[in-house]
Amino acid sequence: MTSILSDENFELFRNIIYNQSGIHFSSSNRSILESRLKERLKAVNLDSVTAYHSLILKNQEEMKVLLDSVTTNLTRFFRNTAHFAAFENFVIPEMVNFHMNRKNHLKLWSAGCSTGEEPYSLAMILKEKLPSPMSFEIIASDLSLKSLMPAQAGFYLESRIGGVPKKHLAQYFDKKHDGYQIKEEIKKTVKFDYHNLKFDSGLRNVDIVFCRNVIIYFDSEAQKAAINRFWQVMNNHSFLFIGHSESLFGMNTLFEFVKTEWATFYRKFLNSEE
Ligand SMILES: C[S@@+](CC[C@H](N)C(=O)[O-])C[C@H]1O[C@@H](n2cnc3c(N)ncnc32)[C@H](O)[C@@H]1O
Repeated sequence: MTSILSDENFELFRNIIYNQSGIHFSSSNRSILESRLKERLKAVNLDSVTAYHSLILKNQEEMKVLLDSVTTNLTRFFRNTAHFAAFENFVIPEMVNFHMNRKNHLKLWSAGCSTGEEPYSLAMILKEKLPSPMSFEIIASDLSLKSLMPAQAGFYLESRIGGVPKKHLAQYFDKKHDGYQIKEEIKKTVKFDYHNLKFDSGLRNVDIVFCRNVIIYFDSEAQKAAINRFWQVMNNHSFLFIGHSESLFGMNTLFEFVKTEWATFYRKFLNSEE
């Protein structure tokens, strides 16, 4: 494969992508960046990375498409089932004990939601387990528009439905042609939004954040910044789930590490605000 990316241009593009999104390309991932750039050059009919560089500087939409093209969107329903078991058996009961009759509405954020399987999985559990009169809403965000579109549609091919427990599939999906459509009662609880975790979300008073398998693509500075922004938007007595290969170890954060029989995650809890 002929290389289109000089060392200098590799630095240039990886810095732009990092500054715009926190996504870090190490030298060993150079060929991935190069192949994404080749695809973009072809799509916009340009024959040099220098010309493409000029284009993204003046065209914000193309910058977004470039960022989208370098994301990894792999996900599935109930991915890492241990997290969902902890959510169901520990977090929901804690939230109910703590909030019932004080604040009956829970706000969740699935940050880096990809094609929607994570927020819909959360919604199905909450629908089953959250006792009346408590209610919930889920904000699900990503910077990948090509992922947010199918997420919003809520239609999944048969091959994507693997992790959904049979009873949830029967209850919360309609079979259609070669796949399944998520039912409106679940769909309406999730609001999808374009958001880049490099910036403030504008969200406040969030009770539960799921940001799994996202910061793994960031370098440590961008990880810290994202985690600090989560802290800012979260309520006192709230929970943060990150991917099982991600950790806050070594970060100067006030999040408490919570270890349960199902999985580990983090809690924001400040006694002084009680
Ligand atoms: C591997 S998927 C994880 C999906 C889901 N959270 C899960 O664990 O199954 C990572 C997602 O993070 C998104 N992402 C990466 N960098 C981001 C950023 N700076 N802001 C928002 N989303 C980002 C990607 O677009 C991608 O959809």
